[in-house]
Amino acid sequence: MCGIVGYVGHRQALDVVLGGLRRMEYRGYDSAGVAVLDGDGALNVERKAGRLANLEAQLDLTGRKEFAGTAGMGHTRWATHGPPVDRNSHPHRDVSGKVAVVHNGIIENFATLRAELEADGVELSSDTDTESAAHLISRAYTTGETAGDFAASVRAVCRRLEGAFTLVVTHADQPDTIVAARRSSPLVVGVGEGETFVASDVAAFIEHTREAVELGQDQVVVITREGYEVTDFSGEPAQAKPFTVDWDLSAAEKGGHEYFMLKEIEEQPEALANTLRGHFDNGRIILDEQRLSDQDLRDVDKVFVIACGSAYHSGLVAKYAIEHWTRLPVEVELASEFRYRDPVLDRDTLVVAVSQSGETADTLEAVRHAREQKARVLAVCNTNGAQIPRESDAVLYTHAGPEIGVASTKAFLAQIAANYLVGLALAQARGTKYPDEVAREFAELEAMPAAVQKVLSTVDQVKALGRQIADSKAVLFLGRHVGFPVALEGALKLKELAYMHAEGFAAGELKHGPIALIEEGLPVVVVMPSPKGRAVLHAKLVSNISEIQARGARTIVIAEEGDETVRPFADELVEIPAVPTLLQPLVSTVPLQVLAAEIARSRGYDVDKPRNLAKSVTVE
Ligand code: F6R
Repeated sequence: MCGIVGYVGHRQALDVVLGGLRRMEYRGYDSAGVAVLDGDGALNVERKAGRLANLEAQLDLTGRKEFAGTAGMGHTRWATHGPPVDRNSHPHRDVSGKVAVVHNGIIENFATLRAELEADGVELSSDTDTESAAHLISRAYTTGETAGDFAASVRAVCRRLEGAFTLVVTHADQPDTIVAARRSSPLVVGVGEGETFVASDVAAFIEHTREAVELGQDQVVVITREGYEVTDFSGEPAQAKPFTVDWDLSAAEKGGHEYFMLKEIEEQPEALANTLRGHFDNGRIILDEQRLSDQDLRDVDKVFVIACGSAYHSGLVAKYAIEHWTRLPVEVELASEFRYRDPVLDRDTLVVAVSQSGETADTLEAVRHAREQKARVLAVCNTNGAQIPRESDAVLYTHAGPEIGVASTKAFLAQIAANYLVGLALAQARGTKYPDEVAREFAELEAMPAAVQKVLSTVDQVKALGRQIADSKAVLFLGRHVGFPVALEGALKLKELAYMHAEGFAAGELKHGPIALIEEGLPVVVVMPSPKGRAVLHAKLVSNISEIQARGARTIVIAEEGDETVRPFADELVEIPAVPTLLQPLVSTVPLQVLAAEIARSRGYDVDKPRNLAKSVTVE
């Protein structure tokens, strides 16, 4: 996720801004930039792809003296629209070079805005959704009823933007003022003595002040040395929430959490909403970079999902939905196995390559193998411009934001959502679902961020449970139907974080072997299907639980709220909201993530950096 910092005060803005960006490096980024107002009507901008060190080296090269002003802003970019190159780095300027904008989020209607600007003769210099905002603000400041009014110009443009955005804007004619706006993506103001800050999070200014104000949805703030003023998008005065930061710096970076993984678990509603945003328009599912025609999608006669680890589990979940919606056979395969056998592929095969990093060597090689066999490849990826999307025929980006914790959490949920979108796009192209059915399925998906938010209320209960079973030798996970891949994911999380023996099983397989593992006190986590949505499977799982409980297992049951039938067999019951069956993994996975993290923490392990593991596995 992009990091933003703005400053108006008495220190050199460049130092404050670079310091703030450094504090937010943990958010992950692929380019950085700064803008400083020198007070004489000049706005100096420098931006560079890569690490902050590249930007600093560039600043040394061009001479920092132009950057001596006491008002400015900076940005670290996590690419969403356009690859991570210099010209796409923020700040973006208007044609006159007087307005500069940094942005976090996704402006959904940017294509329409770009077309409008281009029709007016504006030459855009980047591939971003952000640049349009700079030109529009400049236009609003120069002409019409907002002319000469900086804040009103920003507000007018915000009213035109769709999607999620935090904008921080400077204008060379207003060297003592910064205007910022917030819709969805976070924004906080820091209030110091004769200096005011605005940033994506408090980590950026905590070394200077602990007095902060959290902006609400659809609010605009004007900051000056004297303080700040908040309005809504129409200019009416609005209330924002003041608070005092009592975290230390390292906790501040983690949003007050002890480790990043928990922060990322809590970001899942936002990650899901961002992944779905903008993918349904005019009654149709839209993919991101579509180099496949509708006819190509209609011709598909078989789907492979290839991936590794958690991404592979996201594919296993999606198989149920894609087969159900499209009536196409779906094979889900570990990328490391796929290319070493002789999979039957031709130009009517769609290979969906799922990868958070977009750099996983096994998945990349599997993509190359599939393309050599003339199959079409669609990448589901969280990293804009990574190798896997670059080598694919179509791309659907997950917008989970960067994951710092090595164990995948929010990217996994975003992958499930994106895989579902692929299924709906196929169903739409092939006509196996009517448009109103596709719209209904999408609306159900759109309700999931709220459902995931609700599950997060179980975090404390699950943590307590984790501490109770932290000394166990092993933990088993059982599920049926979409609950089976969730069981596999729960076991993987526990293995990689807590270094415990953990296995996920399809509950129907118990009697074919695994039941022999059950012994007194062994924790067994069971993911229950809905008693209403999947009554038959539910009844079968209830029998499975009673069998293992009778053999001494300690049963930890993840079940739909109000599921009374299962209660007598649950030594511990974690309730999740009732959601459509195919979407249940989006909620049932969450307690398993928390459980693994807390067990690892209790055992004294580094939750964010498990031993022997790397975030991107670029070797086979
Ligand atoms: C598990 C985990 C890994 C990754 C796997 C694939 O928590 O994070 O299993 O899912 O290494 O990585 P990507 O998605 O980057 O291809």
